[in-house]
Amino acid sequence: MSILITGGAGYLGSHCCVSFIERGYDVVVFDNLRNSNPEALRRIEAITGKMPKFEQGDVRDQAALETVLKRHDCDGVIHFAGLKAVGESSQDPLSYYDNNVIGTHRLLSAMSAVGTHRLIFSSSATVYGEPKSLPLTEEHSLNPVNPYGRTKLIVEDMLRDLAASNPAWRVGVLRYFNPVGAHSSGLLGEDPQGVPNNLMPFIAQVAVGRRKQLSVFGGDYPTRDGTGVRDYIHVVDLVEGHLRAYEKLSALGSSENCFSVNLGTGNGYSVLEMIRAFERGANQPIPFEIVARREGDVSEFYADTQKATEFLAWSAERDLDDMCSDTWNWVRKNPGGYKSASD
Ligand code: NAD
Ligand code: UD1
Repeated sequence: MSILITGGAGYLGSHCCVSFIERGYDVVVFDNLRNSNPEALRRIEAITGKMPKFEQGDVRDQAALETVLKRHDCDGVIHFAGLKAVGESSQDPLSYYDNNVIGTHRLLSAMSAVGTHRLIFSSSATVYGEPKSLPLTEEHSLNPVNPYGRTKLIVEDMLRDLAASNPAWRVGVLRYFNPVGAHSSGLLGEDPQGVPNNLMPFIAQVAVGRRKQLSVFGGDYPTRDGTGVRDYIHVVDLVEGHLRAYEKLSALGSSENCFSVNLGTGNGYSVLEMIRAFERGANQPIPFEIVARREGDVSEFYADTQKATEFLAWSAERDLDDMCSDTWNWVRKNPGGYKSASD
């Protein structure tokens, strides 16, 4: 049971390695380390007692992927590698189409060439765009509003076309809501480069003294306290959803060989609720100021989880306090991220 995890040194991929190794898989990481640190791989070994095999490479390199898939006799692929910053995708769309769309095309071509047909793909709830109704079901229309989201939708469409063209494929598309948190050991976590774009890593850096205060983007949304509401999901729950989804692939028939499922908790929390929860977890105040809305943000966004519960027999188990206390444990033990450990 050998599996290739592209982007396996990154935030979500590294946690996924732990879950798959603990389940008995032989994990091979394929990553160009563009947004990650090999220290994460050593931490995976510290948690599981097993170092994933590591192949440094770029998913746009089809020949390298073919070699790696054959060398390790991989049964399937979990595909995390790609770029994920919404703002950057508007400034540099070509890099996003290159890494996310062309990268996935090359990966699928390599898999076809060597006869590996099982794939789990990291999509995002951002493919839904502005919600027309809540909670967001998988049947909601797909209308992403930024280049990052459009690259995810193009890949989803490519996967549906590919699965329809050849019954040998088994494909799972997972649409993540807002993954946060860290491994409970404090050894793995999110380690953003530069100023964090997302709420939780920003709060964490304020808590640990790396930043003075949080800017809350908008206090006048039509929500219960005026701040944006999101569906935050603990990273360990999220990667356990990948295990279920991967194991579901072998139970699929050849006529229904591609599925899309939301991975969220179904609960929406506001920015102020997140701040309060983190303050409880870290036992210290998080200074903040309410500023103008961030362009492109929606007011409220959370998942319908029925399909995940029924189809994958999976639901998130960890609550907001777990998300905050695990994040706090991670940043407290690694205030400078992986870099300080690997220097
Ligand atoms: P991350 O940046 O921490 O991890 C991505 C990994 O892929 C990194 O290790 C990076 O070095 C590697 N990588 C990037 N481009 C590559 C390439 N061309 N070839 C080989 N390796 C490459 O990001 P993450 O948060 O772990 O996200 C993983 C996936 O999940 C991404 O596809 C992202 O779009 C998707 N996703 C993430 C979130 C989130 O909030 N983190 C939400 C929705 C979807
Ligand atoms: C963002 C991405 C989305 C991606 C998701 C992954 C945008 C527009 N969308 O979603 O495509 O799938 O991350 O997690 O970037 N906030 C603050 N101050 C901050 C940062 C955020 O108030 O410094 C607020 C935001 O306005 C929002 C909430 O916190 O209401 C969550 O923001 P964030 O963590 O960036 O996630 P999303 O915007 O949901």
